[in-house]
Amino acid sequence: MTYEERVRVFYDSALHCYQAIMGDRWHHADPDALTVGLPRLRGCEVLEERIVALAGIAPGARALDFGSGVGGPTLHMARVAQATFVGVSNNDRLNELARAKARDVGMADQVSFVTLDDLGYKDLPFPAASFDAVTFFESVCHVPDKAALFRELARVLKPGGRLGGMDWIQRAYGEHQSDADVLRFMAPVNEAISIPWHGTVESYASMMRDAGLEVSIARDLYAGIRCWSVVQDDETPAWATYTGPEQQMFRRGEEALAAARRAGVFTIGMWIASKP
Ligand SMILES: C[S@@+](CC[C@H](N)C(=O)[O-])C[C@H]1O[C@@H](n2cnc3c(N)ncnc32)[C@H](O)[C@@H]1O
Repeated sequence: MTYEERVRVFYDSALHCYQAIMGDRWHHADPDALTVGLPRLRGCEVLEERIVALAGIAPGARALDFGSGVGGPTLHMARVAQATFVGVSNNDRLNELARAKARDVGMADQVSFVTLDDLGYKDLPFPAASFDAVTFFESVCHVPDKAALFRELARVLKPGGRLGGMDWIQRAYGEHQSDADVLRFMAPVNEAISIPWHGTVESYASMMRDAGLEVSIARDLYAGIRCWSVVQDDETPAWATYTGPEQQMFRRGEEALAAARRAGVFTIGMWIASKP
C-alpha cells in the first residue's frame, strides 16, 4: 500500500469522528480570533478570510483548494471572495459530502470538488496557469512528496497568482532542540494521524522557492508559545471521550498530539507565495 493510499483509507475512518467533533472545518482556528473570545467555527472562518485576503482572491477569480475535506473552508472562501473554487482530495466519500453541501447551499455552479487518484497530486488534471490562486488547509502534511506537490501547485498558478495556506509542522522548542528529541514527540503523531513526515516553516518556504515561487509570508502562528489553543481546551474532552468507529485510534492520536503540543514541538505554519 502506498502512503497516499493509507491516507485515503485513514480519512474513510476519520470521517465520522472528525465530523462529530469538528463539523466541516478540519483545521486550526486563527489564534488571534480565539484570543479575543470568538468561538472555534468563527475562528476557522477568520483564518480562511485572512488567507483569501493575503492570497488576493478577488471577485470572479478561479481558485484551487488542495485537500478540501468535506468542503467547509472551500465553500466559505468562495462565498466571501465571490470566487469560483475547485476543491481536490483523493477521497471520493469526502468529496460526495462536499458536493452535497455545495448543492444544499446553492453554490454547485460556483464550487466543484474533484477526486484525484492517490498520486494525482504529482500530475494535477488542470492545465498550466489555470488558477488565479491556490489554497491549502492542513492537507500538505499528509503528502509524502511535498516538493512535487508544490511544483504542481506552482505549475497550475497563473503568473501573478498566489499560493496561500496553513499546515501542521514541527519545530525545536524549549529543551527539545535536537531532531531526535523533536521526533520522539512527533513520530507517534505521524503514526496515529497518517502523516509521513512534518515539515517546518522554513522547509515549506524552501520547497515553494524551489518550485519557482516568491515567498512573502512564512510564519509560525504560535511563534514563541506552545500551540495549545482554546480549540484544544475545548476539544480535548470531546476527543478523549469520543465513541464511534476507530475510537482507540483517535484517542491515541489525540494523546500523541497533546504530548507534542505540551512539548512545544508541534505548531501551525502559514505561508503566502506568488508566481512571478
Ligand atoms: C485534515 S483534512 C483538511 C480538510 C480541509 N482542508 C479542512 O480544513 O477542513 C486533509 C485533507 O487532505 C486530503 N489529502 C490527503 N492526502 C491527499 C492526497 N494525496 N491527494 C489529495 N488530497 C489529499 C484529505 O483527503 C483531506 O481532504
